[in-house]
Amino acid sequence: MNTFRMYFAMALGTGAIVAAALGCSNSSAKPASDVAATSGAAVATDDSARAKEAKDAFWEAFRSMDLDAIAGARDKMIGLFNTRPKDPDLATIGGFAYVIPIQTMRYGGPPMDPSKIPAYFELAVKYTQAGVDAAPDQQSKIFATAFAGGVLYSGAMVRQDWAAAQKGREMEQLVTTHMPALGYATVTDLMNGAPRNTPDFTTSLDSLFRLYELCSGAKFDRAHPDMRPLLKRPFANPSRDCGNHYNWPHSIQGYLLNFADILVKNNQPDAARPVYEFISKTEGYDTWNPKFKHIVEERLASDLTKRAAEYGPGDPQKQPLIGGGCFACHGK
Ligand code: HEC
Repeated sequence: MNTFRMYFAMALGTGAIVAAALGCSNSSAKPASDVAATSGAAVATDDSARAKEAKDAFWEAFRSMDLDAIAGARDKMIGLFNTRPKDPDLATIGGFAYVIPIQTMRYGGPPMDPSKIPAYFELAVKYTQAGVDAAPDQQSKIFATAFAGGVLYSGAMVRQDWAAAQKGREMEQLVTTHMPALGYATVTDLMNGAPRNTPDFTTSLDSLFRLYELCSGAKFDRAHPDMRPLLKRPFANPSRDCGNHYNWPHSIQGYLLNFADILVKNNQPDAARPVYEFISKTEGYDTWNPKFKHIVEERLASDLTKRAAEYGPGDPQKQPLIGGGCFACHGK
């Protein structure tokens, strides 16, 4: 319990980050790039090669859904960041990677020692925050803030630390203001586990509608959305969050599965069914892992009204999960 309190005090330090990202530069911390600049060009080249190698190894492991290789690449990224903290992506991605085994266990993957979960969230917060601090410019600070705010919020919700959760929300609002697609994509994922009829859950649903509207340029009916505008190319918005990408090869499918599940949770089973059906028509569906195709087929074969009723009051831990977890979008 005591470590939680301490960690909470650390987490509150993020207020300064939000202010810094907004341009109020009273930053007392020396940017990591200055520290590293003393080390000389030859070492720098070597370092960036090693950093690239570690990041490539992470993405290959993540795409392959290989938890051991993910942990190995994560430790390499964090190790490199700790010795020469000039590449903020090492901290952002390495820090975020601590969430993967936790999330994977929730989604039926291999169990992890539950006593490790608080420490993993602590490390995730620490390093994603370091990624924000080390980011060299406004744009990359905002990008890193999406991940730092995300783990701050998620970790805080787990231990019911409402003040830290609020900080996380504020960080995400900042992201949405400056990089709306990234903000909506992050927020909808973060908040879809909140109980139905709460502001966070409503925000999750609304953020995904807004992401789809931003990407397609179309308006979506909130009661009975017709998803066909998502098939039009090019997207109305150039953001990487709109389509599939080498490192998130099934993001379109993953978000639509989330969307349909969120509609069910929002007590709109009739609106959800055509969304589940639509998934098989999207680009990239053919190569989606059978495990995730199976989830969609299962939903379509099930009584969605009954599923909607399972999201009532009662223990949220026992309610059906939304979507398929990290690998539904990131697995190849
Ligand atoms: C519903 C789809 C979806 C899910 C689920 C999802 N992601 Fe992502 N992820 C994306 C998209 C889209 C991006 C691109 C964001 C951007 O950079 O604009 C992304 C970006 C990332 C990045 C950073 C990319 C970069 O270029 O640096 C990391 C790391 C990451 N995700 C890890 C995770 C982890 C860990 C989980 C599970 C806790 C997860 N993602 C769940 C879609 C998803």
